[in-house]
This record gives sequence, C-alpha cells and structure tokens, in this order.
Amino acid sequence: MAITRKELPNFTSRMAFILVTAGAAVGLGNVWGFPYVAGKNGGGGFMLIYLLALAFVATPVLMAELLLGRMGRASPPTALKNLQIEAGRKEPWPVIMWVGLMGTILILSFYMVIAGQAIFYGFEAMTESFHGWTPEDIIAFDAAYKSDILLMAFWSAVFVGLTALIVSSNITTGIELAGKWLTPILFVLLVIIVIYAGIYGDMPAALNFLFGFDHLVLTPGVLLEAVGQAFFTISVGVGAIMMYGAYMGNNVNLPKAVMWIVLMDLGVAILAGLAIFPLVFGEGVDASAGPGLIFITLPIIFAKITGGGVVAVLFFMLLAFAAITSSISLLSPTVARLEEAGWKRPHAAWAMSFAAFVLSFLTIFSFNIWSDYYPLAVLGFDGLTAFALVREGVSNVILPVVGVTCALIVGWGIKKERVKAALPMQETVLFKVWYFCLRYIVPIAISALFLNAIFGG
Ligand code: TRP
Repeated sequence: MAITRKELPNFTSRMAFILVTAGAAVGLGNVWGFPYVAGKNGGGGFMLIYLLALAFVATPVLMAELLLGRMGRASPPTALKNLQIEAGRKEPWPVIMWVGLMGTILILSFYMVIAGQAIFYGFEAMTESFHGWTPEDIIAFDAAYKSDILLMAFWSAVFVGLTALIVSSNITTGIELAGKWLTPILFVLLVIIVIYAGIYGDMPAALNFLFGFDHLVLTPGVLLEAVGQAFFTISVGVGAIMMYGAYMGNNVNLPKAVMWIVLMDLGVAILAGLAIFPLVFGEGVDASAGPGLIFITLPIIFAKITGGGVVAVLFFMLLAFAAITSSISLLSPTVARLEEAGWKRPHAAWAMSFAAFVLSFLTIFSFNIWSDYYPLAVLGFDGLTAFALVREGVSNVILPVVGVTCALIVGWGIKKERVKAALPMQETVLFKVWYFCLRYIVPIAISALFLNAIFGG
C-alpha cells in the first residue's frame, strides 16, 4: 500500500538537509578509499578522470535519485511503486530498489568492520598513543587485530550498535542532529590535520602527486574504478540518497543542494589527500601502500613525529564520525520499509543492524581464516576474498546498475513536463545538460564499461 505524503517527517531546514546528506556522502570512501584509489592509480591523471566521472555520471544520478525520493515520498521500493502507478507504466520499477536495499546492507556489512577498526585505533591512540612504536610493532599490531575474530566482531558491533541507536530515534532528533553536528566537526578536524601535515610533511610533493599531470593512465579498468569510486563517494545507487530525498522538504532548491553536497564531498576527499600524502612523502613512504595506508602507514608516521599521538586520536575520531553519518544513511531505507510494514522504528533498526552484523563475518573472516579462500574462483573470480567480492560486487555492479536505472526512470520513464515541475526548474542550460546526461551519457558510459568488463578480458 502506498504511504501518503503527510506520514513522512521532513528535515527541519535546508541547511539541515544539506549537512545531513553531505554527511552521508562523506565517509570512509573519502578518507580511506579516495587516497588509496588515487594512490594506486597514480594521482593526477586519475583525478581528471575521476572529476569527469563525478560531474557527468555520478552527480546527475545523485540529482535523479533525490528527485525520485522527493516525488515518491516513501521508502525506496514504495516510492518507485507510487511513481510507477502515477506514470502508468507496466515495468516493475520497485524491483530495482529491492536490489538497492540489498546493497545497503551489504555495504554496511563491510563498512562496520573498517569503521570498527578505526574506533579501536582511536582508543589505542588515546591510551598508548603509538609513541615510540617501530614500524614492525605497528605491522604486528594491525596483523594481531585482524587475526582476532572476537575483537574485530566486538568493535564492528560497537559501531553498528551506535548506528542503530541513532536511527532508532526520530528523524529530527537522530539522523538530523548527528549530521548537523558531526559533519562540521569532521571538517574542522580535517583542516587541523592538513595544517599539521603542511608543517611537518612534504606538501609540495603531495600537491604534485594529486594534481600533477605527468602520468595519465587511461585504461578501461581505471575508468570503471573512477566511476565506481564516484558513485560510492556520493552515495548513489542503493536508495540511501533516495530515502533522504523523501525527507527533504519541498523548500529545498535541488540543483543548488546537489552542488553543495558534491563540492563538500570532493572537498573532504581532497583534504584527506592533503592530510595523508604530505606525511607519506615527508617520510619517504610508498604512496600506493593500499588499504594499509590508514591502519599501517599513518600510524607508523604518527609514532615518529612530534604531537603524533594527538593527531592520531583526532584522525581516528574523524574517521569514525565520518563513517557514522554514512552508516545511518545505509540503515535508513530498510528501516523505513519495515516501518511501512508496521514495525516500530527501534525494532527495525536493531533487526537490520543485526542482519548486517551477521553478514559482516564474510568480511571479518576474509582477514583471517578465509584469507586464502576465494569463494567464486570456479566462476573466474580467482584471488578475490569474500570481502573483495562483496565490496567490488557492490561498487562495480549494484551501484552502477541501480544508478543507471534511476537515470533511465527520470530520463525516459517519467514525462519531461512532470520532471520539470517536480524540480522545479525551467528548461535552462543546466537542466538540458542534466537531462542529456541522464538520457544518454550515463546509460552509454555504464553500458560501455560493463561490456568491456565482460568481454574485454
Ligand atoms: N559515501 C559513503 C562514503 O564515501 C558511503 C556510503 C554511504 C554509501 N551511503 C552509501 C555508498 C550509499 C554507496 C551507497 O564512505
């Protein structure tokens, strides 16, 4: 049954909406993912491709998803059901959002493991401060954590429990309050670390690495990675953003809000790069150190430099804050769907957190007892652990597929006049570019990347 517009609460102001949605966008993807992906793909050249993917593929989809949420005014599957009925179409639109909802729980299942380690490191930095540790100590510390299944499960549970607690509350006292406070705090913490990195690290080398165009690598694999990162970082492609769209008031100017959200997300990713790479180059460490950048490379540096203990505490707190405002966006859509089915909000929040926690063992085991187990090796996915399969499956398959479907629904499924009225927007250049991206650029770009991934070998 379709839920009516009045039943769903709204965020209290435009500012609240922007901060909360930016908080959902800014997360581990910016601080843990972006520097790693940029480092792996060689910096500057990748940045250019990434910016293009962000501007012409991911951002148009972000706006489409928000719009669908605001128009449908319910949990993602129900919102699309409402819109499908309204548009008089026969294709089962809600199906795609059920895929999206699966995606939210899958993301949450690995997200909590990484965020859990960040909280653990934050406490460790507070009590032990890493000071005077040798690189070997830190490598051993990371390895010991990753081999301790109970400890990993404990910190993952702490993180997802906090998420459930916030989501259990009303929209305005839970999600909104968390986003309004944590997002600005995060920004301030990050700026402090960047200043610190500028003083103690090698800032010119970092700038050159991130923005220098001496090595442009253009392979289909890099393109797919850029699109995947762009989708992941602004949280499109599972309905999390659609849900926030449903809580967005009609007073919010959509294109402007989208611009702010994307700029804040990009700003934080760049700031994270400027916090991490000066320290990395200053110490002569390899910039492409991979996911270990955060849990090995950085602590090694924190152990060496003056004031490193304080910076370490700040840094891991920041990571945990960034992660929690994102994880609440991941939990919201399924919880809203269960509420529509008559569940109480807290029950739904704890039940879905528990489901994600059970799934998190796929990730936890991948660091220890399953570290050499490649579940889908027979299908040709050799060398991918369960964690890698979940992460890459979501980023490279679910996000683009759901995202492109949202683009097609807004671009082709709903009448143009209706879309313009719902934004609301005149047929300006901005509108035309956006609409063209939805109708052609997004579907063509994503199909091309898929065909290449399947047949390109
Ligand atoms: N964007 C967040 C990050 O960068 C993660 C995230 C939150 C997300 N909600 C999402 C990713 C929805 C994809 C879809 O860490």
